[in-house]
Amino acid sequence: MRINRLELSDFRNYEKQILFFHEKTNIILGNNGQGKSNLLEAIYMLSMGKSFRTQKDLEMIRFGANFLRVCGSFEKGGRTTETEVMLSGEEKKFRIDGFLGSKNADLLENVYMVVFSPEDMRIVKEDPDKRRRFMDRELFQIKPLYYKDLSRYKKSVLHRNAVLKAEIPNEDMLDVWDENLFKYGSKIIRERRYFIEKLKKISMDIHASVTDGKEFLEVSYAPDIAFAEDSEEQRDIFIGRLRECRASDMARRFTGAGPHRDDMSVFIGGMDVKRFGSQGQQRTAALSLKLAELSIIKEETGEDAIILLDDVLSELDEERRRFLIRSLSKNQVFISAAEMSAEIRESLPAGRVYFVSAGRAEPADFYGENAEDAENLFYKV
Ligand SMILES: Nc1ncnc2c1ncn2[C@@H]1O[C@H](COP(=O)(O)OP(=O)(O)O)[C@@H](O)[C@H]1O
Ligand SMILES: [Mg+2]
Repeated sequence: MRINRLELSDFRNYEKQILFFHEKTNIILGNNGQGKSNLLEAIYMLSMGKSFRTQKDLEMIRFGANFLRVCGSFEKGGRTTETEVMLSGEEKKFRIDGFLGSKNADLLENVYMVVFSPEDMRIVKEDPDKRRRFMDRELFQIKPLYYKDLSRYKKSVLHRNAVLKAEIPNEDMLDVWDENLFKYGSKIIRERRYFIEKLKKISMDIHASVTDGKEFLEVSYAPDIAFAEDSEEQRDIFIGRLRECRASDMARRFTGAGPHRDDMSVFIGGMDVKRFGSQGQQRTAALSLKLAELSIIKEETGEDAIILLDDVLSELDEERRRFLIRSLSKNQVFISAAEMSAEIRESLPAGRVYFVSAGRAEPADFYGENAEDAENLFYKV
């Protein structure tokens, strides 16, 4: 799938802008602080309904403005979809082909997108919350119900924590919230396990291929409460664990066990990469995981996701960079960089360059095969 048109109003340092994109490669160049990542962030908003950089939506409204709007025209299997995100101090709204929605879940089924940011290249060594986010973002896209279950689970944890914060926690209420935690939490565990089982196989192959068969990557799910295939058994394990933790939860006044404490372990040849891997190994493993994410989207939805590479090409050595570029040959790709050598540019599929300066993006050269034809076609859009 791909995005053909993007419209921004008062998004970060963009006041008003309309851009048409190339179906393959879009290279966003500009000095630091000019708005390259902002542009990718806006595209991402249309897929996930939120930023890949901040949890604070309001930060994205242009300084001095009250309201932002991002609008995009996507093409998927020959069909065009118009997607719009509007955000003001009071509310966030989405519109898909004219229909209004107010939940992120309304957006998630429409657009498949994977972002590679420098932060993503560190997911292996960072804290577990980064790895949970990795699993969740992927599951939001391939399992639309997951988003709702996760939101309900998180709300239940907040309610349970509120009960724990009372002077004398009401244990009957805790029983009620334990049931809710189990109800949604067990779905989360099941879906995460499903995802990681797939991820394990696919990332293993990709990693073998990136490292020329020298390294054997093995990821596995590290759930805080063990997974059980049988739902009765899952219930016993889940509720049992919450009961075991109740006294310490009451002393600490928060919920200490559950999928909100899950993690994913990453091993290379039996070694824990998070703890003992070199920086190079950690990055390569991260790259394999991200590429596996893409391939799972393709497997589950039949679509080639839109790829956002925010300043990551410069973080990879030449070999990995080549591998990455080769792996993305079917996808529409956005690449932001402060600069790009002619050599790298020539290694990319045909596309177009955009220069960004102080919140304006100017389309510039087409390059690659049929650049002239592309130019003619482009102006007809
Ligand atoms: N809400 C906002 N309103 C106006 N400008 C913003 C807002 N948020 C960030 N900026 C500006 O955006 C710029 C950073 O843009 P960014 O896309 O991250 O840069 P880069 O081109 O290095 O990727 C900074 O100059 C910052 O001041
Ligand atoms: Mg940037």
